[in-house]
Formats: sequence, structure tokens, C-alpha cells
Amino acid sequence: MDTETLLTTTRSVRRKLDLDRPVAHEVIADCLRVAQQAPAAGGLLTAQRWIAVTDPAIRAGIAPLVQRSAHAAWAHYADQVDSRMFVSARHLVDHIGQVPALVIPCMPGRPPSSPAEQSAYYGSIYPAVWSFQLALRTRGLASSMCSYHVVDHEEDVAKLLGIPEGFTQIGLIAVAYSKQAEFSPAPRPPVEEILSFDAWAGPRR
Ligand SMILES: Cc1cc2nc3c(=O)[nH]c(=O)nc-3n(C[C@H](O)[C@H](O)[C@H](O)COP(=O)(O)O)c2cc1C
Repeated sequence: MDTETLLTTTRSVRRKLDLDRPVAHEVIADCLRVAQQAPAAGGLLTAQRWIAVTDPAIRAGIAPLVQRSAHAAWAHYADQVDSRMFVSARHLVDHIGQVPALVIPCMPGRPPSSPAEQSAYYGSIYPAVWSFQLALRTRGLASSMCSYHVVDHEEDVAKLLGIPEGFTQIGLIAVAYSKQAEFSPAPRPPVEEILSFDAWAGPRR
């Protein structure tokens, strides 16, 4: 697959995940090896930690926490979400305990309060998250963020997994082999709408 195809057709896959095919630890480790080459601010590169949950009993412990948080979140903002995406998100949440690997990237400390520091904090893990998702794709796997529990069940998941108090869970990535090989670019605003040169040209808000 050429680079542009990889970058434009790697989707959040929720309904085409192969729930019956296990994902070997080596595959996850290999994708994280690739993802670790992503940029990060200063010391935040080596301080991050990732946990991949593949044990079915532990996944079964995490599932109801994700489900409870997802239902609470949807009660608030489901009307703002595209209905196709909502059906797909719901499908993943319903089956989250059966997804072969649930990968949780963690950052040291708690998110800072200043916007600039927040930018460095989250900006030091999301490039690696996306690289991880791209690396999975090149190996025939698919993934989707399914991060609901960080809102109100982060501590419960931390207890289940033994994550020390000084770490923040950034999200949860559902990982499985893909039942579909080819995907298309998703609709996005035309570049001219979001890009200007030399001066701001978009609407004020
Ligand atoms: C920071 C972040 C958090 C996300 N959290 C969720 C989530 O909790 N549930 C979900 O279904 N998708 C989640 N997504 C995936 C987005 O919904 C998805 O990227 C978006 O719908 C665009 O679809 P695409 O990835 O297929 O292009 C998240 C994505 C990002 C970058």
C-alpha cells in the first residue's frame, strides 16, 4: 500500500473487527516499536507507558465500565453525532469485551491546566497513537478509539490493571484483525475551506 493510500484510507473501524481472531502480543509490540518513532515534547517521549489488555477475563472487567461511560456520554451528546457513526460506535461499545486487544496509552502525571502545556502533553502521545493505528493497518489489523471510560471510570480501570496513581490514561484503542481490507477516504471539508495563506481568511467563528 502506498503512503497516501495508507494515510487517507485508515479509518476508525468498529463493525468490521474480527472478534474471533486473537492478536498476538508480538504484533502489538511490533506496532508500538514503530509508533515510538513519533515526535513528543522533551522527556514525555520516554515517560509514556502503554498497556495492552488481551486476557478475556480482564477485558470482561473493563467492558461494563466502558459501556456505562459510553451510555452516559451519549445521553449528553448523541444528537450532535452523525447517525451512521453513532450506530457504528454503539456496535463497538456493545462488543467491546470481545475485542481481542484493548490498548491503553498512559502519560505520566495529570493533564496540565494551561493550554500550551496541554498541547505539549496530549501532543506528545497522539502522534504515537496515530502511528500505532497506521502500523496496525499495514499488518492487516484495524482499530478505533473507544475512550469513553476516561471520563468517569478511569480510576476503576486503573485499579483493575494496577496503573499507578501518577499516570493518566489517554484513551482506549480497540484492536483486532480487520474483516475488510480496503477502505475509502472519508468525506472531509475541501482544503480551500480550511486553509489560507499569509492571513486568516475563514469566518470569524
Ligand atoms: C482523541 C480521539 C478520541 C476519540 N474517541 C472516540 C470514542 O470514544 N468513540 C468512538 O467511537 N470514536 C472515537 N474516536 C474516533 C472518531 O470518532 C473518528 O476518528 C471520526 O469519526 C472520524 O472517522 P475516521 O477515523 O474513520 O475518519 C476518537 C478519535 C480521536 C482522535
